[in-house]
Parts: sequence; C-alpha cells; structure tokens
Amino acid sequence: MNAKSKSNKSVVVVIASIAATGGLLFGFDTGVISGAIPFLQDYFVLTDSQVENVTALGLIGAVVGALFTGAITDYLGRKKVILASAFIFATGAVWTGLAPTVTQLMISRFYLGLAIGVSSFAVPLYISEIAPTKIRGRLVSMFQLLITVGILAAYLSDKGFADNNNLECWRPMLYVGVIPALILFIGMFFLPETPRWLMSKGREDEARTVLGKIENPDFIDSSIAGMKSDIAIDASQASWKEIFKPWLRNALIIAMGIMFFQQFVGINTVIYYSPKIFLAAGFEGAEAAIAASVIVGVVNVLFTIISLFIIDKLGRRKLYFLGVTGIFFALISMGLGFMLPGAGKWFLVISMLVYIAFFAISLGPLGWLIITEVFPTRVRGLGASIGSLSNWGFNTLVVWTFFKMASAIGNAKEVVVPEGQDLSEVCPTCIGSVFWVFAAVALIGLVWGYYFIPETKGVSLEKIEEHWKNGGKPRELGK
Ligand code: BGC
Repeated sequence: MNAKSKSNKSVVVVIASIAATGGLLFGFDTGVISGAIPFLQDYFVLTDSQVENVTALGLIGAVVGALFTGAITDYLGRKKVILASAFIFATGAVWTGLAPTVTQLMISRFYLGLAIGVSSFAVPLYISEIAPTKIRGRLVSMFQLLITVGILAAYLSDKGFADNNNLECWRPMLYVGVIPALILFIGMFFLPETPRWLMSKGREDEARTVLGKIENPDFIDSSIAGMKSDIAIDASQASWKEIFKPWLRNALIIAMGIMFFQQFVGINTVIYYSPKIFLAAGFEGAEAAIAASVIVGVVNVLFTIISLFIIDKLGRRKLYFLGVTGIFFALISMGLGFMLPGAGKWFLVISMLVYIAFFAISLGPLGWLIITEVFPTRVRGLGASIGSLSNWGFNTLVVWTFFKMASAIGNAKEVVVPEGQDLSEVCPTCIGSVFWVFAAVALIGLVWGYYFIPETKGVSLEKIEEHWKNGGKPRELGK
C-alpha cells in the first residue's frame, strides 16, 4: 500500500468515527431511561402505565423519525439530515432533563426519539457510502460499536448519578446526552457529503474531490464510472414507486427480514430488562442485579470490537450463521437457567453473556450494515429508512409483549400471583419459556438466512445493484 492510500484510509477512519457518534447517541438515549425511571416515577408520582408511555414515546418517535425522513435523505443529502438529527439530540437532551411536568417529559422524549430514528439509518448509510469497498463492513460496524458503547455509558451514567436522597438525580443522567450530541454536530459540520449522493445529483466535480480524500487513487476513475452507470439507469424513477418494484423485492425482504430476526431473538429484553431478569433468576438486591447488567454491557462492547476485525474477512453469511446458531443454543440454555433450581442463576448469567457475545458479532452489526448495502443509490436513503423503521417497530413489539407473553404462559399454567409480587417472582419458569420462543425464532432465522442473507463482502455497492437488475438470487451474490 502506498503512502497516499494509507493516509486516505486514516481519513476515512476519522470520518467514520465522527459520524458513528450518532450510534453512541442512539445507544445512550435508548438505554439511559431505564435507570432514570425509578426516580422519575417517584418525582412525578407516576403510575406504571404513565411510565410505559414515557418509554414508549421515545420508541414511537424513532419510528416516526425513520418513516418520514428516508426520502428527504435522498433529496437533501446525508450530511444535512445527520446535522439536523444532532441538533435534535442536543436540544432534546436539555429539554428532557429540564422537563417541569410529565407531559413535557413525554413530548420531549418523543422529540428525542425522532433523532434516534433518523440517525439510526442516516449514519450507517453515510458511512457505507463513504467507505472503500474493502473495509466497508468494518467501518459501518463502528456504528454498532458506538451503539454498544452508548448503552454502556447510559448504564454507567445511571449508576453514577443515582442517589436515593435526591429525587431529581434523573435530570443529570439525561443531560449527559448533550456531550456526544455536540461532538456529532460540530464534527459533522466539517465532514463532506458522500460521493455517491453527490453523483446522484450530478455534482461530479465535488464527488471527485471527496473521493480524492478517501479512496485509493487507483480506484477513483472506476468508482466514478460505476456510480455513473448506476445512476443513469435509475434517473427517471421516483423513489417510493421504485422501491416497491419487483426487481427490488429481495432487497426489501432482506432489509426488513434481518431487522425482524435482530429484534425477535429478544435482544432488548436483555438490554432493557437485565436487572429485572437477574432478580427473577434469584439474585438478591438491586445492586447485584445492576452490576450484572454492567457486565452485560461490557461483554457487548468487547465482542462488537471482535466483529470489526472479522466482518470483512469471514464475510456476512458465515458470521450470520455462526452468530444465529450460537444465539439459538444460548437461548435454550437461558430458558434452562430459569428452570434449574439453585445452581440455575450462574448458569443463566453465563448463558446470557454467551448470548450477548454471539449477538454482538453477528445480528447487531449485520442488521445496520446490510440495510445500507442492498439498495441502489437513488433509493438507498429510503430503503435504509424502511429497514430502520422495521427495526424500531419490531423492537417496540418485542419489548411490549415480553412480560405479557410470560403472563400468558403463567395463565396457561394457572399460576396465582399474590398481591405485591410480580409474575417473575412466583414463576421464573414462565420467563424462561419466553426465551424458548425466541430460540424457535432463531431457528427459523437460520432457514431464512440460507435463502436471503447476501454475501456482500468485497462487492461494491454498484455491483450489488447490478446483481438485482440481472434477477440474481440473494444467496448467489458475491459468488
Ligand atoms: C440493536 C438494538 C440493540 C443493540 C444492542 C442494535 O444493533 O438494533 O436494538 O439494543 O444492538 O447492542
């Protein structure tokens, strides 16, 4: 590798790291609420259903954010949309922290949710379009890495500010979100627009200037040529109409399907409820349970780092099958952990860590990566936003139904829950069974993946598009 292409690679890594701060905000803002809730609830004297509303409004905001901005991202460009989301993140963090009434808290969580939804597809999209093909997987996975760092930072911020003598300690927990938002806003201000989007708007000179900074000089001309032919074919199509055309059906199934499996193996029941799950498994005291959750957060970060090094080597398909198989066995043993008396709790902790590790190397990064790879440039923003929308929709569904599924199993077993206790205390096996339901989903995911997960490793975005145009099957890509 010559000196010039080496320095270009460092520029790309810097650019991707700044943009990936959007992932940190995503992780932080979805994670931080769990530790803030006990204090919020006492401070505003909220019922459980009001608490649910506060949490849900953030997720609904994310759905709305992803729904309405996909086409705007294709129209205005990736950079402007990310800048706008950084602005909402910063002001939203201050607003939620200051909220004088619960109504304002709900509205401000919704507002913050919009930014979460927008950044969750615009950031990986930006990175994938600016990355050289060879390291695209690794660079987009940096987004996932920062999601996991954000979740961990949220657990720590919750832990650090939690103060039983101060009911307003939830405010500083939320203010912390301003810091990454400012980093994203200021950083993004200096970053270029992606060459692919510039080309789609006919701004070839600017696209060349950007490519000159980031691409191996030997590949600039061929990159431009590839983008040109890609755009020429698309030029007359309108995005919404285009995306539902038969030749893009597989791309849509892939984007929605991978997000379905990413969420329906139950990842966020562990991420959001791990302290509660640990208590149900027989750990005593909230502190031990919270400490156990921090370990979950750390393992999540560490294994995501590992995925950065293997995603462009092993490829997407191998990683998918390895990860989902591991997830399947880990879910089976998590279920067992609830069934075995006594020794079960350690068995559960270990299985849960194994589960997180397999998720972190596979479905976590692959979901966000693949939704940015499978669509052609003109509708890539819209396509990725549909992937992201599915992610948030499925996420909300799983998180809302987790305890309900457990209760349904409890009802079927005719378990009686005494006043003042909850189901997890009297029927840990009811919770355990839900993990077996998730295991069944993982099994179906393996079959689905065989037909639909494309091998996009080392294949340029333009080649992927060509494959669909030629009527190629997902599993034949990259062969
Ligand atoms: C998922 C999130 C999840 C996180 C855990 C992401 O890829 O989309 O729902 O909380 O990974 O690390």
